[in-house]
Amino acid sequence: MSTSRGALGSLIPVFRYLWPYKARLVAASIALLFTAGATLSLGWGLQVLIDQGFGGGSSADLRSAIALLLTIAAAMALGTFVRFYLVSWLGERVSADLRKAVFENIVHLHPGFFESNRSGEIMSRLTTDTTLPQTIIGSSFSMALRSSLTLAGALVMMFVTNLKLSLIIGIGVPLVLLPILIFGRRVRRLSNQSQDSIASVGSYAGEIIQHIRVVQSYTRERYESEAFSAEVERAFAIARRRIRQRALLICTAIALLFTGMSGMLWEGGQDVISGRMSGGELGAFVFYAVMVGSGVATLSEVWGELQRAAGAAERLVELIATKSLIIDPGAQQDWQQSAQPRLALEAVTFHYPTRPDVAALQDFTLPIDAGRSLALVGPSGAGKSTVFELLQRFYDPQQGKVTLDGRDIRELGLQQLRELIALVPQQPALFTGDVHYNIAYGKPEATAEDVIAAARKAHAHEFICDLPEGYQSHLGEQGVRLSGGQRQRIALARAILNDPRILLLDEATSALDTESEHHVQKALEELMRGRTTVIIAHRLSTILHADKIAVMDHGTVVACGSHEELLKTNALYGRLARLQFRDPKD
Ligand SMILES: Nc1ncnc2c1ncn2[C@@H]1O[C@H](COP(=O)(O)OP(=O)(O)OP(=O)(O)O)[C@@H](O)[C@H]1O
Ligand SMILES: [Mg+2]
Repeated sequence: MSTSRGALGSLIPVFRYLWPYKARLVAASIALLFTAGATLSLGWGLQVLIDQGFGGGSSADLRSAIALLLTIAAAMALGTFVRFYLVSWLGERVSADLRKAVFENIVHLHPGFFESNRSGEIMSRLTTDTTLPQTIIGSSFSMALRSSLTLAGALVMMFVTNLKLSLIIGIGVPLVLLPILIFGRRVRRLSNQSQDSIASVGSYAGEIIQHIRVVQSYTRERYESEAFSAEVERAFAIARRRIRQRALLICTAIALLFTGMSGMLWEGGQDVISGRMSGGELGAFVFYAVMVGSGVATLSEVWGELQRAAGAAERLVELIATKSLIIDPGAQQDWQQSAQPRLALEAVTFHYPTRPDVAALQDFTLPIDAGRSLALVGPSGAGKSTVFELLQRFYDPQQGKVTLDGRDIRELGLQQLRELIALVPQQPALFTGDVHYNIAYGKPEATAEDVIAAARKAHAHEFICDLPEGYQSHLGEQGVRLSGGQRQRIALARAILNDPRILLLDEATSALDTESEHHVQKALEELMRGRTTVIIAHRLSTILHADKIAVMDHGTVVACGSHEELLKTNALYGRLARLQFRDPKD
């Protein structure tokens, strides 16, 4: 992820998220003004302390001067408490709201979006970029406001206190600050690079850990360690450059500031000695001058932070504004759902967005009869899974249409369409959660009895009961590891529980042992009965059970018919039957 473009305008949409909390915003602003006022009056308190408290000659004078200082300090403390609490609250709140808005939008995006955007990058936007409002609102922005207020106030007070010295400062401050600003800019650029390189170290490690088995089985540990170490060293080299610049920056700042200050004290001190100015006045003046200097320094630092935040804000707003390419027309009231829907692909031509030059489906026409089962067979890469993607409307075809009971599915509500369909994928996804949660994923309101009944139909009940905690056993990344056949049966139970009218089955190509193959087969037969079913078939027994078989090659249907017909008429089918379709009874 690259760095800021620096246009602060992109922060504006983030500030829109502040609007619902305008009462707090007003309160925070009042606290901010109040604290700035109290901080400024500290200079006046100092003057009173030196001239009247120390110079007055009596304890009573000193006591009242100190009482004044204490009152100002108390006001400052109270104001700061309120300001800090409110401003930090706002920052955290906006971060939380933004995070929710980003996630809310991305779960609705078309799956193609996640192909052209790495999930790691999206994750980092969701976790890292969303903390930026916390920094901008919670600290930078309030710091900027505070500094500009005290800066303006201190400037005025400086001129009021002593005109001649103020003019000297007016010339001296830019001389001091210019080199600091130049260094500061360099440090910031390096710190952006440093963050990027840390992020790439993280994603490198993430990938290796995810594929640890492959790494170890090819004994590439040493190579990966060395590659990782190179990555880390690169990050360190950038960090070292940043540290050197930063150290130089601090050193220059201290040297310049104190030289300037000494010059000012020399000039002012002469006036105090000659009686043109009181000691208290000089004290107050130095106080204001320090405030002006630190105000300018803070502002320049904050400016950089705001620019960085603007970059992040831009990326976030982009994520929130990304529209799904799958346009949902909303639920259609006039549409009568039939118990056994009829599907069809009509003259569909489809290219995946990431491969616009190759058609995954070319002038593809395939009727899928109501309540019957259709087996799709064909060599790898023929476009079988692509048909499923289109039937579920994860993509829209560039030409032609997919119809449900004669109606273009683009005219139906997405939810209406997808509610009808259950998919059992080749590699079923398990979520972190127990077996019950995973089976009931599509129907969270299901009772324990419903879930068990579905598991029985999927021939999964027995092995689930053998798990350490039965239906409460944990699955997913940190959970029990299931075999391929067991995962498939969990996925089948999930589909059975949803009682879909349309069933899409992507049969596993990998060999299951005959025992679980038999179970899966039985469960499938049960599930397919009376439903409109499309099945990407690899097993002879499944193919023989299907009402119709469509042979696909290079994104087109090359033949349609029954097993016997196709064996006689289609050479590709004959070859597939000989080489690919496994008969579990063999
Ligand atoms: N997300 C994608 N982006 C770009 N191209 C894709 C994508 N998915 C599939 N393809 C390409 O589209 C073509 C059809 O792929 P598809 O997954 O439909 O094949 P398949 O018939 O299901 O193969 P298999 O039997 O190996 O699962 C292939 O050339 C594949 O490389
Ligand atoms: Mg496939």
